[in-house]
Amino acid sequence: MFYDLPMDVSFVRRKASILFVLQVIYVILKADHCYQMSRNVLLFLSKGQNGMDTAMAGKICMVTGANSGIGRETALGLAKMGATVVMVCRNRAKGEAAQRDIKQQSGNDAVDLLLADFASLQAVRQLASEFQQRYNRLDVLVNNAGSFFGQRILSTDGYEMTFAVNHLASFLLTNLLLDTLKASTPARIVNVSSDAQMAGILNFDDLQMSKRYRMFAAYAQSKLANTLFTYALARRLEGTGVTVNCLHPGVVATNIWSQPLPPFLRPLAGISRFFGISAVQGARTSLYLATSADVEGVTGKYFADCREKTSAKISYDTAVQERLWEISAQMTALS
Ligand SMILES: NC(=O)c1ccc[n+]([C@@H]2O[C@H](COP(=O)([O-])OP(=O)(O)OC[C@H]3O[C@@H](n4cnc5c(N)ncnc54)[C@H](OP(=O)(O)O)[C@@H]3O)[C@@H](O)[C@H]2O)c1
Repeated sequence: MFYDLPMDVSFVRRKASILFVLQVIYVILKADHCYQMSRNVLLFLSKGQNGMDTAMAGKICMVTGANSGIGRETALGLAKMGATVVMVCRNRAKGEAAQRDIKQQSGNDAVDLLLADFASLQAVRQLASEFQQRYNRLDVLVNNAGSFFGQRILSTDGYEMTFAVNHLASFLLTNLLLDTLKASTPARIVNVSSDAQMAGILNFDDLQMSKRYRMFAAYAQSKLANTLFTYALARRLEGTGVTVNCLHPGVVATNIWSQPLPPFLRPLAGISRFFGISAVQGARTSLYLATSADVEGVTGKYFADCREKTSAKISYDTAVQERLWEISAQMTALS
């Protein structure tokens, strides 16, 4: 009896560890399977003479937040498929370093860099205008840049930073580039949201969280806004040949978890950095939505693991979608 308890505990522990390992393997295989399937088809159809996968040759793709994490791997994946990639970064040194690496790793020289800090709506306007001066078409726009903030801080325009960077900047950028996208059909918009949107609440009385700021609530609200924006935009784009979808990339071990966090959230960041999937895996659903023939014509949907998924119940409420659209248009002075 004395020895029974430790034996039981170690048995249960061993069983739990085995189950955990099996679960991790299952998740990896599942993500890998859907990626490989779509990639193999594209590769089969499109191997170029120099060995570069040319499935996206001739396409112009913009990726925001392209110097790090999921955005960097998305830009690299598109460059490997032969696309002209326009990386959007806020820091010149980081942007140029990533641009050099992506050119080298992909063997594709058509990798451009534009700079914009999404904390400023003027910078977003400048970005759209610079892009339009350089290019006359846009086949894929991946709105990926995003962050969260331990303290409530304000953007250059005086808006709560999470809402400004994660939602208002991509709302404005997309709207400013819509005519270019419509002139490039079939074109695709991919919005990187998060399952955090499931916990999102849009408090229209205090969207700026000036009364009470909580970091996770601000992040979840901004990611719910990404989803509501996707659905409202899909309705507006019906019949134009431009599709728009959003996604959860998974819990991904990236720099996003290196932000200074309140003490009670630090274990979450540690777990995500340690157990999170790689940025390469995290970019798979973005790449799938940006390139796969499987989702040609599919619009106004939420995806995870390259599969359609249900988003938060409130995200399907068209009144909420339209209210957010109206407020966002006012806040960004979109005429
Ligand atoms: N990692 C996850 O577990 C996870 C889960 C769900 C959703 N997501 C979403 O995935 C997207 C990519 O995040 P990640 O995990 O790859 O994080 P990351 O490695 O930190 O990359 C975020 C990118 O956004 C850029 N960015 C941040 N603030 C910006 C600003 N003010 N102006 C312009 N660019 C800005 C960053 O630039 P700097 O390098 O200069 O900071 C970086 O390039 C985000 O939208 C995030 O919300 C991530």
